[in-house]
Amino acid sequence: MMKVFASICLLVVLVAVNQAQAESLVSTNHGSVMQELNKQKNEKVQENENLNCNVRTNAIFKAWPDMKTPCVNSMRKQIQKEIHASVQYLAMAAHFSTDTVNRPGFAEHFFKAAKEEREHGSKLVEYLSMRGELTDTVKNLIQVPTVKTANWSGIAALEDAFKLETEVTKSIRDLIKTCEGTGKDDNDYHLVDYLTGVYLEEQLHGQRELAGQITTLEKMMSTHGELGEFLFDKNM
Ligand SMILES: *[C@@H]1O[C@H](CO)[C@@H](O)[C@H](O)[C@H]1NC(C)=O
Ligand SMILES: [Fe+2]
Repeated sequence: MMKVFASICLLVVLVAVNQAQAESLVSTNHGSVMQELNKQKNEKVQENENLNCNVRTNAIFKAWPDMKTPCVNSMRKQIQKEIHASVQYLAMAAHFSTDTVNRPGFAEHFFKAAKEEREHGSKLVEYLSMRGELTDTVKNLIQVPTVKTANWSGIAALEDAFKLETEVTKSIRDLIKTCEGTGKDDNDYHLVDYLTGVYLEEQLHGQRELAGQITTLEKMMSTHGELGEFLFDKNM
């Protein structure tokens, strides 16, 4: 494994060195070319000894990112919120999957919700990247959240989900407000349009669906008790 790693390092370094040589041949006289070659050779040997791939790349082009800092920071927080929702739904899915609870309809519903929330997070990461705002670090961007676990009934889980979605909706509205900015040139219409048209749209429909499910399940349980939940689960 180390050998393979070392070979890859060497290869990468050699390619970089060759390129640098080609460039310096064009622009320098013979004496300084030899000097340069020796210097690079030494660097190469040193890097190889340390098994440390550290090829210098060209300067990263940084002139174009134009998102405002408060907006970027709010986006990073929103990514964490989506991940939190995802892991929370995963915990609910696991609960309904246990063999003592055994509600496959609820389980599948929450596994799907967990996947969707993770995708919401990914899309926002991709958006930041597209705008050139994912530059040096992902520290604090992706953190594993702690989630609530409980002995959820069907109703309790749907109500918790509704609460969670309400919080997420509020957080997206705040994010939109932040990215609209306050100054003359602060507004980020492209992102605001995306968040409004895609994220809020899905939030509002999702909340309506959950509200409907809670109503139906409550009606079924008020007349049929546990059997109501059993039938509801079959129909999810
Ligand atoms: C979970 O709740 C159900 C229904 O109220 C109950 O029968 C069961 O014992 C509870 N399980 C645990 C581990 O508390
Ligand atoms: Fe979401």
